[in-house]
Amino acid sequence: MTAVSTGDGSAAEGGPAIDVRGLRKSFGALEVLAGIDFSVARGEVVCVIGPSGSGKSTLLRCVNLLEEPTSGTVTVAGAEVTDPEVDIDRVRRRIGMVFQSFNLFPHLTALENLTLPQRRVLGRDKAEAARVARERLARVGLTDKESAYPAQLSGGQQQRVAIARALAMDPELMLFDEPTSALDPELVGDVLAVMRSLADEGMTMLVVTHEMSFAKEVADRVVFMDGGAIVEEGTPERVIGAPRHARTRSFLARLLTPATAELTEAAAAPHGAGERPGPA
Ligand SMILES: Nc1ncnc2c1ncn2[C@@H]1O[C@H](COP(=O)(O)OP(=O)(O)O)[C@@H](O)[C@H]1O
Ligand SMILES: [Mg+2]
Repeated sequence: MTAVSTGDGSAAEGGPAIDVRGLRKSFGALEVLAGIDFSVARGEVVCVIGPSGSGKSTLLRCVNLLEEPTSGTVTVAGAEVTDPEVDIDRVRRRIGMVFQSFNLFPHLTALENLTLPQRRVLGRDKAEAARVARERLARVGLTDKESAYPAQLSGGQQQRVAIARALAMDPELMLFDEPTSALDPELVGDVLAVMRSLADEGMTMLVVTHEMSFAKEVADRVVFMDGGAIVEEGTPERVIGAPRHARTRSFLARLLTPATAELTEAAAAPHGAGERPGPA
């Protein structure tokens, strides 16, 4: 109760992990985020879903200031990242980010990909960085791959190395932007299993994903975005199982049955009670 924000967020323990207020972002004349308000509690797993171009990646990138918001505030663990006075590098260190493309250094082994940022950013010595790296590689099931170069790993293994690299920095929260979208279908499961175990351990996670079964099983809350705005949010059972808005229903229908989406949209009744048209 006595926590006071110190500017780097090391206090304010009771507050949300992420708090976004009135967030707008434009690229020239194009408004990509049209006023977003939402927050993520500590230990909460929130999945963001929505059509391509709806602003999901831009929202994530505004959270760690890879994009500068046009207006509004973003607060991460008590530190307002949109405050011009904030030490953004210090805030970013507390946020792990995993992208669709794994962004590993191709000329470094898995182990070296994990030790380099620890040494450069956190100033850990070689032995400590290697100890942490091996522990994190074990956590994602890749102990036997520490000497492999990215090109010698499958896409799923590379993405698990990328997750381990983020975890090696001891983040307080993790952002995932479609972490399985670039993977062959048979490799998706191993990456989702790692994410599920992180969620089970209490990691705060904001995940952009098209994996509805993952969202249903793991998310505490699902946020549906369209046109740069949050259309609806709630429990996965509510948003995915009984969407209130036509835009959410048509998005989910398109995901489930791409070929018959238009028919399904036309037939969609409230709460998805419409009969699914059979194959033509
Ligand atoms: N750096 C940029 N410059 C110009 N337009 C951008 C930039 N980044 C994203 N956009 C545009 O913003 C919109 C939302 O993009 P994005 O946040 O990537 O959506 P999503 O992740 O939901 O697919 C798209 O129309 C995209 O073309
Ligand atoms: Mg995106």
